[in-house]
Amino acid sequence: MVLNVQKDSLVTLNDGNKIPVSGFGLYLTPPDETFKLTYEALKAGYRQIDSAKLYDNEKESAEGIAKFLKDFPNVKRSEIFYTTKIFNDAHGYEEGKKGIQESLGRVAPYIDYIDLLLIHTPISNKEKRLGAWKALQEAVESGKVKSIGVSNYGTQHLDELYNWDGLKIKPSINQLELHPWLPRKDLQEYGKKHGFYLQAYAPLTQGQKFKDPDVVAIAEKHGYTAPEVLLAWSYYQGFIPIAKTATVGRIEGNYTTLDRVKLDDEDLKKLDKPESYESLTYWDPTLYKDDEINESKWKI
Ligand SMILES: NC(=O)c1ccc[n+]([C@@H]2O[C@H](COP(=O)([O-])OP(=O)(O)OC[C@H]3O[C@@H](n4cnc5c(N)ncnc54)[C@H](OP(=O)(O)O)[C@@H]3O)[C@@H](O)[C@H]2O)c1
Repeated sequence: MVLNVQKDSLVTLNDGNKIPVSGFGLYLTPPDETFKLTYEALKAGYRQIDSAKLYDNEKESAEGIAKFLKDFPNVKRSEIFYTTKIFNDAHGYEEGKKGIQESLGRVAPYIDYIDLLLIHTPISNKEKRLGAWKALQEAVESGKVKSIGVSNYGTQHLDELYNWDGLKIKPSINQLELHPWLPRKDLQEYGKKHGFYLQAYAPLTQGQKFKDPDVVAIAEKHGYTAPEVLLAWSYYQGFIPIAKTATVGRIEGNYTTLDRVKLDDEDLKKLDKPESYESLTYWDPTLYKDDEINESKWKI
């Protein structure tokens, strides 16, 4: 199977906006390191940066982008794709408007607008999720947010949104934990049917499967590393993986993986586990049901 994307490729979302296929993640990146890591990621070639209100590094990542644009005036703001996410406290229409304004307040002084704004999880209730989506739609109309999407939405949360008569802008993305042990075939099918992309988080399994025998065998066969094999797998699925590293020396290798690392049919077959359902982040809100709101497993 030959991939038709390269490390600097853009793919077109269902709203017409374009997103770089290679993403750089900032989960658990401390605010005081975020500025530098964002800058270094852009220097290495990344053009997609993934932050969230929850990560407490929206401002610092936006500052890193602004500094990069100042130092490299040949790169335009429009070439960089900045994602952030509103958290569960911003579910509901009024709460959503407030949460969006707060995120914009943190980043707009540096980068003017948000490329992609996601609802981080479905953890609230139907009325609040749809209220937040209404606020997101209005943010697009305001021009300060270009694309909107969801994260950690299961089919039941997506059905609710698609069946809502207030739906004007369909989600362009569902950002999910995705790797060979959690391929989520049902959500892949859903995305294909409705025309949205899946962004893969934890594509490197947070390091937990670097010693998996199949991964090691594939890596040894070609002379790759385990993280390269896992990241390549994600591209072969047609996902938009967001890889995280807080180690500057690993950024470039991760970014160039798509161009350097080729998996053959035998490798892909080895990693094909359609029935596997193993969440390695131990937190899977796609399974959330509204009557579980008070359960400790959903609290962060
Ligand atoms: N929407 C959501 O709910 C959600 C949830 C989780 C994550 N995300 C997003 O997805 C991004 C990626 O997911 P993730 O951070 O959970 O996990 P990940 O990208 O699968 O793994 C990150 C881990 O892999 C290590 N690593 C990275 N590159 C490596 C390399 N070349 N060699 C060896 N180790 C390497 C990193 O170590 P070092 O940092 O020490 O280099 C880090 O411990 C996040 O940063 C975030 O932006 C979203």
